[in-house]
Amino acid sequence: MTSVQNTPHTHLTPKRIAVLISGSGSNLQAIIEHQKNHAHLYQIVLVVSNRPNAFGLNRAAAANIPTLTINHTDYASRELFDESLQFALDKAHLDLVVLAGFMRILTPHFTQHFLGKMLNIHPSLLPKYPGLNTHQAALQAGDTQHGLSVHFVTPMLDSGPVILQATVNIEPNDTAESLQQKVHTQEHLAYPLVIEWFAQNRLQYKDNQAWLDQKPLIIPQQL
Ligand code: GAR
Repeated sequence: MTSVQNTPHTHLTPKRIAVLISGSGSNLQAIIEHQKNHAHLYQIVLVVSNRPNAFGLNRAAAANIPTLTINHTDYASRELFDESLQFALDKAHLDLVVLAGFMRILTPHFTQHFLGKMLNIHPSLLPKYPGLNTHQAALQAGDTQHGLSVHFVTPMLDSGPVILQATVNIEPNDTAESLQQKVHTQEHLAYPLVIEWFAQNRLQYKDNQAWLDQKPLIIPQQL
């Protein structure tokens, strides 16, 4: 009798993910590179930008990923913009929406619609420094450590349950720019890893918490 030993994840259908950007898209690039070696787990079916000149659109095009620009300045309200975005994402039949430097505040209706299926990366050790200018804030506070958080998106800005954090040391000669570089380097490792967990069905959102391997993440994972 022969038996075929399958690894636990070989039977999964690749997850369909969309990446939302507003700018450079270096995180998008890291995800594109990671996906090439994990095509059995997920595919990037769409990249959406709210800014027509976002450099990340070029990165997506170079990787033959369909792109879409939904320019927020064309919409009279946040609600109308989100409605249009939701329509486009729903049409793509997604398993996961990945916010990668997507600099828009999303309406509760939108975040509720994708609850448990939408991730964000934020350049601080949440709950410290939600919002903008996080590197400057960490420097001004005299912190010795800074970092990033990957979290599920909930209606509260930058406040959804944190899945993974990575820490960088703040040295006396660090500037906002040097800190941003350090954080970016870690982001490019952290985000693909969390997407991989999600695609392996190891990561869920349940009871307002993130769960990894059937256990609630009381404390976020550390890279
Ligand atoms: C990243 O550092 C990400 O953490 C941050 O924007 C940058 C995008 O860089 N996101 C936020 O501040 C969201 N609140 P990228 O375009 O090169 O990936």
